Amino acid sequence: MNITVPKTSRLRSKDFVFGVATAAFQIEGAADSRLESIWDRFCATPGMIRDGSNGLVACDHYNRWREDVDLIEQLGVDAYRFSLSWPRVIDQNGHLNKVGITFYLNLLDRLNAKGIKPFVTFYHWDLPQHLQDAGGWLNRNTAFKFRDYVDLVSKAFGDRVFSYATLNEPYCSAYLGYEIGIHAPGITGAQHGKKAAHHLLLAHGMAMEVLARNCPDSLNGIVLNFSPCYSKTTKPEDIEAARLADVFLNQWYIAPILNAQYPDLLASLPDDHKPDIRDGDMKLISHAIDFLGVNYYTREFFQEGSPSGFQQAENLEGQKTDMGWEVFPQGLTDLLVSLTTDYNLPPVYITENGAAMPDIVENGMVMDTERLAYYQSHLQALDAAIEQGVAIEGYFAWSLLDNFEWAEGYAKRFGIVHVDYETQKRTVKASGKAFGKFLKQRAA
Ligand code: FCB
Repeated sequence: MNITVPKTSRLRSKDFVFGVATAAFQIEGAADSRLESIWDRFCATPGMIRDGSNGLVACDHYNRWREDVDLIEQLGVDAYRFSLSWPRVIDQNGHLNKVGITFYLNLLDRLNAKGIKPFVTFYHWDLPQHLQDAGGWLNRNTAFKFRDYVDLVSKAFGDRVFSYATLNEPYCSAYLGYEIGIHAPGITGAQHGKKAAHHLLLAHGMAMEVLARNCPDSLNGIVLNFSPCYSKTTKPEDIEAARLADVFLNQWYIAPILNAQYPDLLASLPDDHKPDIRDGDMKLISHAIDFLGVNYYTREFFQEGSPSGFQQAENLEGQKTDMGWEVFPQGLTDLLVSLTTDYNLPPVYITENGAAMPDIVENGMVMDTERLAYYQSHLQALDAAIEQGVAIEGYFAWSLLDNFEWAEGYAKRFGIVHVDYETQKRTVKASGKAFGKFLKQRAA
């Protein structure tokens, strides 16, 4: 089983960055050596996590990071995208936590020593709980706390980091966390989402200023998730619903960053749903970025519905992953081409793409042929986008390891390396081996 792309594909060139990705809360464990985060509190709330699990141990990466870096090296990738645990590196008083910083300094030094480029994300959803107690992302002050965190840590890291992303998927933080409450901190209410989103975007903008000053040589940007929105039927009302959903899910985040303005929909929001936009905010939010990280997994269908004008419809198309997400590689090509048409894009990295599958370990092996097929088809879709003129610089598989999949707990496995949570044994799956083989051929 192999991953193949055409001989002339840009994906075969040595300067195209291939990497694997993880996030702190999903793999680290060692919760006792950091402050409490909103995800610890959320996991401890009965009924929030499907299997009742939590991130206290996870993949025990905090203790096994050397072994995990060896795995990354063995896969032959160019880069490793991981996130920092804010509650691990900053103490309750807003000062650097030496122990937490040392953990990441060691990790960065080892990655650099092995020639693996570190792509660091500052915020992959694990807000310190004490900041949530003060209102979390509904409090404008959290954006300033984030800026200070980014300032202290980026100075401590010096020139060790190849690329910094401020936030991972602010849509998920704002909508899932503060509007429908299926992610931490579990707050519900349609009036909250856009307010939280604005403070997240403000935090991003202020952090970009800090990074441009502290680390002008690293590649600084943000990671957004995109779900292409399709109409359930050909009825004009459903087509309009899909357009609205696209504005709500996708354009709401990229437009302020690249065009310094929210979509027109802002004007028609009920007054109590509107974010508190102050003078100078849009200028901060639209600070130049060196790269845009794009996370893509699947597409979604919509139909007319109230009160927002759209409602998600069941997706009856195609093959589904273990998450129930349709395998739709064409969506990746279409998304990248439309972003290139609609915006003046900086260089793009696909910062997450991958699939959960019901893996079985047999004779010490995981033959995850469906995941491998997912990667194969999405790399082809990426190649097609490049052929159509999209400037893509890199691609990261989600994920290096099976890990804590948020509200789904440990039941959904996204890794190209299998984790036995009883023994913490890592087993490279067939997909991981195929990546390794592909990357070695490329190097030859
Ligand atoms: C993304 C998250 C990532 C992972 C994948 C499956 O939305 O950024 O942490 O959970 O989904």
